[in-house]
Amino acid sequence: SRRSMMDLHGRKHDYLRISLTERCNLRCQYCMPAEGVKLSAKSQLLSRAELTRLLRLFAALGVTKVRLTGGEPTVRSDLVDIVHEISSIQGIHTVAMTSNGVALTRRLPALQRAGLTALNISLDSLRSDRYELMSRRQGLQKVLACIDLALQLKYEPVKINTVLMKGFNDDEICDFVEFTRNKEVEVRFIEFMPFSGNKWDDSRMVSGDDALGVIREKYRALQPLLASACGTATLWRVEGYRGRVGFISSMSQPFCSSCNRLRLTADGNLKVCLFGGTEVSLRDAMRAGDTDARLAELVLASLRRKRPQHAAERRGGDALRRPSQPVAARGYCT
Ligand code: GTP
Ligand code: 5AD
Ligand code: SF4
Repeated sequence: SRRSMMDLHGRKHDYLRISLTERCNLRCQYCMPAEGVKLSAKSQLLSRAELTRLLRLFAALGVTKVRLTGGEPTVRSDLVDIVHEISSIQGIHTVAMTSNGVALTRRLPALQRAGLTALNISLDSLRSDRYELMSRRQGLQKVLACIDLALQLKYEPVKINTVLMKGFNDDEICDFVEFTRNKEVEVRFIEFMPFSGNKWDDSRMVSGDDALGVIREKYRALQPLLASACGTATLWRVEGYRGRVGFISSMSQPFCSSCNRLRLTADGNLKVCLFGGTEVSLRDAMRAGDTDARLAELVLASLRRKRPQHAAERRGGDALRRPSQPVAARGYCT
């Protein structure tokens, strides 16, 4: 039943993030090494039919919101069909996607017709040379065009994900604030998180508070906005600006206590936390012939094991600043 997705810490899980692919057309510094990540064999990935089956099951258990992530979801040629399929499932009201926007513009109208209701776009620099340094590929103009089209199509606000890295893009904080002057965008400054293979180093991290400090020095008229209960960001608006700015401070101020998220990896593992923990292969269960009832049991059993906080936080402040080992098993958007 729908009540069953409550965990032992009172968190109701109605939000499923699905990684549609491990592949990506960028190589962001904070995400993966220049040579990319090791990809699973195609036979290991969920087929469309398997994905649909799991989604129906999750919807029956109480999931109402799905976010498609990657890698980069637009590298999948069947993306429009997937969105259509998901948006037709009873009980799912929000089909969102997080994309780097480089190869999205052309397909966005079709995705919207297929039922895509919300869009987050990664953008770490507003300068071409910088963009190329951060993502190890070209693409800034394409991303900017994509944001404009998304606004035209009334995805409002379009959320912009900006991961701050000291020495790379932390001198652009106020440029990003200016980006909100005339556009209905929500720029979220994100703390650099440690994933395996991303060479995380706390000296590269810019905390949400530090970024806010930089903004306050220049913008006196900064108004706090009410954030939604399960949202990841704290939000502000510069008086008179159309858009807003936010901070996702996953490291310095984890939001574990209000976490409502489950995750499905491209190869069919259920994760109850972004930062590691035991994964359960729903793919293997399906391929072994398990019934939906048995799959539901596996999901609920995982949920019962979900910890109150993520690993980095549990190990306390110092471990959080200097984790002895990366706290997530995979280094791509998820
Ligand atoms: P919505 O609230 O649905 O708009 O999603 P979001 O903003 O959380 O998703 P998005 O994919 O845009 O991710 C933004 C940032 O939040 C990224 O840096 C994610 O890694 C981070 N994030 C997403 N989910 C979690 C989570 O469960 N825990 C933590 N610590 N960070 C997360
Ligand atoms: N730290 C923080 N955010 C990250 N993202 C990817 N890797 C990291 C990291 N190491 C963000 C990207 C993308 C979102 C899904 O996750 O900006 O927009
Ligand atoms: Fe690709 Fe996202 Fe990783 Fe950048 S952060 S390389 S866009 S998967």
